Amino acid sequence: MTDKSIVLVGFMGSGKSALGRIIAGKLGMPHSDMDQLIQSRAGMTISEIFAGSGEEAFRDMETELLRELAAPGREPAVYSTGGGVVMRPENRELMRQIGTVILLDITPESVLTRLSRDTKRPLLQSPDRKARVEELMQKRRPAYLDAADYILSVDNRTKDENAARLMKLLEEI
Ligand code: S3P
Repeated sequence: MTDKSIVLVGFMGSGKSALGRIIAGKLGMPHSDMDQLIQSRAGMTISEIFAGSGEEAFRDMETELLRELAAPGREPAVYSTGGGVVMRPENRELMRQIGTVILLDITPESVLTRLSRDTKRPLLQSPDRKARVEELMQKRRPAYLDAADYILSVDNRTKDENAARLMKLLEEI
């Protein structure tokens, strides 16, 4: 069992926040959700940040937060990231410094089913959500694979099943 921090990455809807919370509870480790931290620091929702300052400003906030989390001396924790964090090479390097990076791998079909009614993710508010998800997935997949130390496929399973499978994976590393 690893004693390092755990960093969950993956596309929107892959369950990073929910699984992070569950496994942190089981491991007795603190859980931090990067999107939540950014929203509370900014005093704005992610949609408001995107609308008011633009996506690049949000990406800068993500990188700044990762730099803080990668500073030495922090207690091990489970971190849930936002789905686009893997796109900057610097972020991938920072996540490696933080801990073991686990990709929650999901197909575009499952994303569309899980997020069919989502209104909180600015990047999905497109008239053709299917095309948007497929395009983003294609663009991001190499970065997810590059970021990941381990991959857990999360399609067609419940949250609890995936939490149990993730715990098993962590016990083996
Ligand atoms: C984003 C994913 C979101 C959030 C923001 C941008 C992305 O997080 O960070 O809306 O670029 O994929 P979740 O993956 O938790 O939905």
